[in-house]
Amino acid sequence: MTMADTEKVASGIPGLDNLIEGGFWPKSTVVILGSSGTGKSTFAIQFLMEGIEQGEQALYVTLEEPPEQIMHEADLMGFDMRKYYEKSLFFIHLKGRNFKKMIEEQLPQLVKARADYNIKTRVVIDPMTPVIWATAEKLEQRELIGKLFYTLKELGVVLCTVEEHAKPGEAIGEDVLLPIYLSDGAIHLEYYPIGGAFNRTVKLLKMRGVHHGEGVYPYLFARGVGIVVRSSPTKIPEEQSRSHVKTFDEAIKTAEAMKAPARVIERIKRMSKHWDYDYSPEEALQILFSSYGLKRGG
Ligand SMILES: Nc1ncnc2c1ncn2[C@@H]1O[C@H](COP(=O)(O)OP(=O)(O)OP(=O)(O)O)[C@@H](O)[C@H]1O
Ligand SMILES: [Mg+2]
Repeated sequence: MTMADTEKVASGIPGLDNLIEGGFWPKSTVVILGSSGTGKSTFAIQFLMEGIEQGEQALYVTLEEPPEQIMHEADLMGFDMRKYYEKSLFFIHLKGRNFKKMIEEQLPQLVKARADYNIKTRVVIDPMTPVIWATAEKLEQRELIGKLFYTLKELGVVLCTVEEHAKPGEAIGEDVLLPIYLSDGAIHLEYYPIGGAFNRTVKLLKMRGVHHGEGVYPYLFARGVGIVVRSSPTKIPEEQSRSHVKTFDEAIKTAEAMKAPARVIERIKRMSKHWDYDYSPEEALQILFSSYGLKRGG
Protein backbone atom coordinates (compact mmCIF):
# COMPACT_ATOMS: atom_id res chain seq x y z
CA MET A 1 0.00 0.00 0.00
CA THR A 2 1.30 3.46 -0.83
CA MET A 3 0.97 6.46 1.46
CA ALA A 4 -1.67 7.92 -0.84
CA ASP A 5 -3.90 4.91 -0.26
CA THR A 6 -3.83 5.36 3.47
CA GLU A 7 -6.86 7.20 4.73
CA LYS A 8 -6.16 10.01 7.14
CA VAL A 9 -7.96 10.23 10.48
CA ALA A 10 -9.94 13.48 10.78
CA SER A 11 -8.95 15.33 13.93
CA GLY A 12 -12.42 16.70 14.68
CA ILE A 13 -10.91 20.16 15.22
CA PRO A 14 -12.42 22.53 12.63
CA GLY A 15 -9.63 24.31 10.76
CA LEU A 16 -6.84 21.94 11.81
CA ASP A 17 -6.99 19.24 9.17
CA ASN A 18 -6.13 21.54 6.31
CA LEU A 19 -2.87 22.31 8.14
CA ILE A 20 -1.94 18.63 8.37
CA GLU A 21 -2.89 17.31 4.94
CA GLY A 22 -6.28 16.00 5.94
CA GLY A 23 -5.70 14.60 9.40
CA PHE A 24 -3.53 12.24 11.44
CA TRP A 25 -1.93 9.08 10.09
CA PRO A 26 -3.67 5.94 11.33
CA LYS A 27 -1.89 4.29 14.27
CA SER A 28 0.18 7.35 15.00
CA THR A 29 0.81 9.08 18.30
CA VAL A 30 0.19 12.78 18.83
CA VAL A 31 1.11 14.92 21.82
CA ILE A 32 -0.97 17.96 22.75
CA LEU A 33 1.26 20.24 24.73
CA GLY A 34 0.08 23.27 26.65
CA SER A 35 -0.05 24.93 30.02
CA SER A 36 -3.05 24.59 32.29
CA GLY A 37 -6.28 25.87 30.78
CA THR A 38 -5.11 26.08 27.18
CA GLY A 39 -7.74 23.56 26.05
CA LYS A 40 -5.90 20.23 25.95
CA SER A 41 -8.81 18.24 27.37
CA THR A 42 -11.23 20.04 25.07
CA PHE A 43 -9.06 19.05 22.11
CA ALA A 44 -8.89 15.44 23.30
CA ILE A 45 -12.65 15.13 23.83
CA GLN A 46 -13.37 16.70 20.45
CA PHE A 47 -11.07 14.20 18.80
CA LEU A 48 -12.86 11.29 20.48
CA MET A 49 -16.35 12.60 19.76
CA GLU A 50 -15.51 12.98 16.07
CA GLY A 51 -14.79 9.26 15.92
CA ILE A 52 -17.72 8.20 18.07
CA GLU A 53 -20.15 10.15 15.91
CA GLN A 54 -18.86 8.28 12.89
CA GLY A 55 -19.39 4.87 14.46
CA GLU A 56 -15.85 4.40 15.75
CA GLN A 57 -15.00 3.54 19.31
CA ALA A 58 -13.14 5.62 21.84
CA LEU A 59 -10.86 4.70 24.67
CA TYR A 60 -10.14 7.31 27.32
CA VAL A 61 -7.13 6.49 29.49
CA THR A 62 -7.26 8.54 32.64
CA LEU A 63 -4.70 8.65 35.41
CA GLU A 64 -6.15 11.39 37.58
CA GLU A 65 -9.84 12.15 37.30
CA PRO A 66 -12.49 9.42 37.43
CA PRO A 67 -14.69 8.96 34.33
CA GLU A 68 -17.68 10.57 36.06
CA GLN A 69 -15.77 13.84 36.52
CA ILE A 70 -14.49 13.82 32.95
CA MET A 71 -18.00 13.38 31.61
CA HIS A 72 -19.27 16.12 33.90
CA GLU A 73 -16.63 18.55 32.64
CA ALA A 74 -17.38 17.52 29.07
CA ASP A 75 -21.03 18.35 29.75
CA LEU A 76 -20.05 21.87 30.79
CA MET A 77 -18.19 22.28 27.50
CA GLY A 78 -21.25 21.12 25.58
CA PHE A 79 -20.23 17.53 24.81
CA ASP A 80 -22.61 14.72 25.63
CA MET A 81 -20.23 11.87 26.36
CA ARG A 82 -22.66 10.09 28.67
CA LYS A 83 -24.80 9.11 25.73
CA TYR A 84 -22.00 6.84 24.54
CA TYR A 85 -20.65 5.71 27.89
CA GLU A 86 -19.80 2.02 27.79
CA LYS A 87 -21.47 1.72 24.39
CA SER A 88 -18.75 3.16 22.18
CA LEU A 89 -16.84 5.17 24.79
CA PHE A 90 -14.75 3.25 27.29
CA PHE A 91 -12.54 4.42 30.11
CA ILE A 92 -9.43 2.85 31.54
CA HIS A 93 -8.78 4.44 34.90
CA LEU A 94 -5.18 3.74 35.85
CA LYS A 95 -5.42 4.56 39.52
CA GLY A 96 -2.68 4.53 42.10
CA ARG A 97 1.04 4.69 41.97
CA ASN A 98 1.89 1.55 40.12
CA PHE A 99 1.61 2.70 36.51
CA LYS A 100 4.64 0.64 35.61
CA LYS A 101 3.00 -2.67 36.37
CA MET A 102 -0.21 -1.59 34.69
CA ILE A 103 1.52 -0.34 31.56
CA GLU A 104 3.70 -3.41 31.32
CA GLU A 105 1.21 -6.13 32.21
CA GLN A 106 -2.47 -5.22 32.37
CA LEU A 107 -2.66 -2.76 29.48
CA PRO A 108 -1.15 -5.04 26.79
CA GLN A 109 -3.64 -7.79 27.73
CA LEU A 110 -6.54 -5.38 27.56
CA VAL A 111 -5.42 -3.96 24.25
CA LYS A 112 -4.80 -7.39 22.78
CA ALA A 113 -8.33 -8.46 23.65
CA ARG A 114 -9.74 -5.34 21.97
CA ALA A 115 -7.45 -5.41 18.96
CA ASP A 116 -8.80 -8.85 18.03
CA TYR A 117 -12.18 -7.27 17.29
CA ASN A 118 -10.54 -4.92 14.80
CA ILE A 119 -12.88 -1.98 15.45
CA LYS A 120 -11.73 1.51 14.50
CA THR A 121 -10.73 3.11 17.77
CA ARG A 122 -9.36 6.45 18.95
CA VAL A 123 -7.34 6.58 22.14
CA VAL A 124 -6.75 9.50 24.47
CA ILE A 125 -4.41 9.69 27.46
CA ASP A 126 -5.36 12.83 29.34
CA PRO A 127 -3.17 13.90 31.04
CA MET A 128 -0.06 11.83 30.46
CA THR A 129 1.96 13.95 32.85
CA PRO A 130 1.69 11.50 35.80
CA VAL A 131 3.50 8.88 33.72
CA ILE A 132 6.39 11.28 33.28
CA TRP A 133 6.41 12.02 36.98
CA ALA A 134 6.14 8.36 37.99
CA THR A 135 9.90 8.14 37.91
CA ALA A 136 12.80 10.59 37.89
CA GLU A 137 14.87 8.13 35.91
CA LYS A 138 15.02 9.37 32.30
CA LEU A 139 15.62 5.94 30.87
CA GLU A 140 12.65 4.49 32.71
CA GLN A 141 10.42 7.38 31.65
CA ARG A 142 11.41 6.71 28.10
CA GLU A 143 10.63 3.03 28.44
CA LEU A 144 7.24 3.67 30.04
CA ILE A 145 6.11 6.22 27.45
CA GLY A 146 7.50 4.10 24.64
CA LYS A 147 5.61 1.06 25.86
CA LEU A 148 2.41 3.00 26.38
CA PHE A 149 2.56 4.33 22.80
CA TYR A 150 3.61 1.00 21.34
CA THR A 151 0.79 -0.87 23.07
CA LEU A 152 -2.05 1.57 22.42
CA LYS A 153 -1.09 2.39 18.82
CA GLU A 154 -2.32 -1.08 17.88
CA LEU A 155 -5.87 0.23 18.32
CA GLY A 156 -5.68 3.49 16.37
CA VAL A 157 -4.49 7.07 16.73
CA VAL A 158 -3.23 7.77 20.25
CA LEU A 159 -3.55 11.35 21.40
CA CYS A 160 -2.03 12.33 24.71
CA THR A 161 -1.91 15.59 26.57
CA VAL A 162 1.10 16.89 28.44
CA GLU A 163 1.16 19.84 30.81
CA GLU A 164 3.68 22.49 30.08
CA HIS A 165 5.23 24.63 32.76
CA ALA A 166 7.26 27.10 30.72
CA LYS A 167 5.67 30.51 30.24
CA PRO A 168 4.51 31.60 26.78
CA GLY A 169 7.49 32.44 24.61
CA GLU A 170 9.95 30.56 26.82
CA ALA A 171 11.76 27.48 25.56
CA ILE A 172 9.87 24.21 25.95
CA GLY A 173 10.68 22.63 29.32
CA GLU A 174 13.00 19.66 29.50
CA ASP A 175 10.41 17.48 31.22
CA VAL A 176 8.15 17.55 28.18
CA LEU A 177 10.80 16.97 25.51
CA LEU A 178 10.66 13.20 25.90
CA PRO A 179 7.00 12.70 24.91
CA ILE A 180 7.48 15.11 22.00
CA TYR A 181 10.52 13.19 20.89
CA LEU A 182 8.80 9.79 21.14
CA SER A 183 5.59 10.77 19.36
CA ASP A 184 4.80 11.09 15.66
CA GLY A 185 3.22 14.49 16.02
CA ALA A 186 3.26 17.35 18.51
CA ILE A 187 0.82 20.24 18.73
CA HIS A 188 1.48 23.22 20.96
CA LEU A 189 -1.37 25.24 22.46
CA GLU A 190 -0.38 28.60 23.93
CA TYR A 191 -2.23 31.25 25.85
CA TYR A 192 -0.98 34.81 26.09
CA PRO A 193 -3.15 36.58 28.63
CA ILE A 194 -2.99 39.93 26.82
CA GLY A 195 -6.43 40.03 25.24
CA GLY A 196 -7.18 40.35 21.57
CA ALA A 197 -7.37 38.02 18.61
CA PHE A 198 -3.98 36.39 19.02
CA ASN A 199 -4.25 35.51 22.69
CA ARG A 200 -4.78 31.80 22.01
CA THR A 201 -2.59 30.21 19.38
CA VAL A 202 -1.75 26.77 18.06
CA LYS A 203 1.53 25.73 16.48
CA LEU A 204 2.53 22.41 14.93
CA LEU A 205 5.87 21.39 16.40
CA LYS A 206 6.11 18.26 14.31
CA MET A 207 4.00 15.84 12.28
CA ARG A 208 5.94 12.94 10.82
CA GLY A 209 5.31 12.29 7.15
CA VAL A 210 3.19 15.40 6.78
CA HIS A 211 3.91 18.70 5.09
CA HIS A 212 2.28 20.70 7.83
CA GLY A 213 1.50 24.37 8.24
CA GLU A 214 4.36 26.25 9.84
CA GLY A 215 2.58 29.31 11.06
CA VAL A 216 1.14 30.34 14.40
CA TYR A 217 -2.64 30.04 14.15
CA PRO A 218 -5.18 31.66 16.44
CA TYR A 219 -7.92 29.48 17.85
CA LEU A 220 -11.12 30.13 19.69
CA PHE A 221 -13.55 28.13 21.78
CA ALA A 222 -17.11 27.42 20.73
CA ARG A 223 -19.07 25.51 23.30
CA GLY A 224 -20.64 22.46 21.71
CA VAL A 225 -17.93 22.26 19.07
CA GLY A 226 -14.76 22.92 21.07
CA ILE A 227 -11.61 24.41 19.59
CA VAL A 228 -11.83 26.11 16.20
CA VAL A 229 -8.56 26.99 14.44
CA ARG A 230 -8.29 29.98 12.15
CA SER A 231 -5.96 28.44 9.61
CA SER A 232 -6.84 30.55 6.60
CA PRO A 233 -8.25 34.04 6.15
CA THR A 234 -12.02 34.01 6.54
CA LYS A 235 -14.45 36.36 4.89
CA ILE A 236 -16.96 37.73 7.35
CA PRO A 237 -20.15 39.28 5.92
CA GLU A 238 -20.81 42.97 6.50
CA GLU A 239 -23.76 43.07 8.85
CA GLN A 240 -21.98 42.38 12.10
CA SER A 241 -24.85 43.82 14.04
CA ARG A 242 -27.34 41.04 13.23
CA SER A 243 -28.38 38.99 16.16
CA HIS A 244 -26.53 35.74 16.70
CA VAL A 245 -29.79 33.86 16.70
CA LYS A 246 -30.45 34.98 13.16
CA THR A 247 -26.94 34.02 12.10
CA PHE A 248 -27.36 30.53 13.50
CA ASP A 249 -30.82 30.09 12.00
CA GLU A 250 -29.46 30.98 8.60
CA ALA A 251 -26.48 28.70 9.04
CA ILE A 252 -28.76 25.79 9.94
CA LYS A 253 -30.98 26.49 6.94
CA THR A 254 -27.97 26.69 4.66
CA ALA A 255 -26.54 23.47 6.07
CA GLU A 256 -29.85 21.70 5.55
CA ALA A 257 -30.13 23.01 2.00
CA MET A 258 -26.63 21.69 1.34
CA LYS A 259 -27.64 18.31 2.70
CA ALA A 260 -24.99 18.50 5.40
CA PRO A 261 -24.77 15.36 7.57
CA ALA A 262 -27.22 15.37 10.47
CA ARG A 263 -24.39 15.38 13.01
CA VAL A 264 -22.98 18.60 11.54
CA ILE A 265 -26.37 20.28 11.77
CA GLU A 266 -26.67 18.94 15.31
CA ARG A 267 -23.33 20.59 16.09
CA ILE A 268 -24.44 23.95 14.80
CA LYS A 269 -27.61 23.67 16.91
CA ARG A 270 -25.56 22.87 19.99
CA MET A 271 -23.24 25.74 19.23
CA SER A 272 -26.23 28.05 18.83
CA LYS A 273 -27.72 26.99 22.14
CA HIS A 274 -24.53 27.79 24.01
CA TRP A 275 -23.21 30.85 22.20
CA ASP A 276 -22.73 33.51 24.85
CA TYR A 277 -19.71 35.35 23.50
CA ASP A 278 -19.58 39.01 22.56
CA TYR A 279 -18.21 38.27 19.14
CA SER A 280 -20.16 37.03 16.15
CA PRO A 281 -20.29 33.29 15.50
CA GLU A 282 -19.73 33.93 11.76
CA GLU A 283 -16.07 33.05 11.74
CA ALA A 284 -16.46 29.84 13.73
CA LEU A 285 -19.36 28.85 11.47
CA GLN A 286 -17.36 29.49 8.33
CA ILE A 287 -14.47 27.39 9.55
CA LEU A 288 -16.86 24.65 10.65
CA PHE A 289 -18.59 24.64 7.26
CA SER A 290 -15.41 24.45 5.27
CA SER A 291 -13.94 21.77 7.52
CA TYR A 292 -16.86 19.56 6.49
CA GLY A 293 -16.40 20.49 2.86
CA LEU A 294 -19.47 22.74 2.75
CA LYS A 295 -19.08 25.95 0.78
CA ARG A 296 -21.37 28.84 1.61
CA GLY A 297 -21.60 32.24 0.04
CA GLY A 298 -20.43 35.16 2.18
N1 LIG B 1 -16.77 27.19 25.71
C1 LIG B 1 -15.72 27.85 26.12
N2 LIG B 1 -15.66 29.17 25.93
C2 LIG B 1 -14.59 29.86 26.33
N3 LIG B 1 -13.53 29.33 26.94
C3 LIG B 1 -13.56 28.03 27.17
C4 LIG B 1 -14.64 27.21 26.76
N4 LIG B 1 -14.38 25.95 27.10
C5 LIG B 1 -13.18 25.98 27.67
N5 LIG B 1 -12.69 27.22 27.74
C6 LIG B 1 -11.40 27.63 28.27
O1 LIG B 1 -10.62 26.47 28.33
C7 LIG B 1 -10.10 26.28 29.62
C8 LIG B 1 -10.13 24.82 30.05
O2 LIG B 1 -10.06 24.01 28.95
P1 LIG B 1 -9.47 22.56 29.12
O3 LIG B 1 -9.98 21.91 30.32
O4 LIG B 1 -9.65 21.87 27.83
O5 LIG B 1 -7.93 22.93 29.32
P2 LIG B 1 -6.72 22.00 29.75
O6 LIG B 1 -5.57 22.47 28.95
O7 LIG B 1 -7.12 20.59 29.67
O8 LIG B 1 -6.51 22.41 31.25
P3 LIG B 1 -5.84 21.56 32.45
O9 LIG B 1 -4.36 21.65 32.25
O10 LIG B 1 -6.29 22.31 33.65
O11 LIG B 1 -6.36 20.17 32.38
C9 LIG B 1 -10.96 27.07 30.51
O12 LIG B 1 -10.17 27.56 31.55
C10 LIG B 1 -11.47 28.17 29.65
O13 LIG B 1 -10.60 29.26 29.68
MG1 LIG C 1 -7.21 19.00 31.04
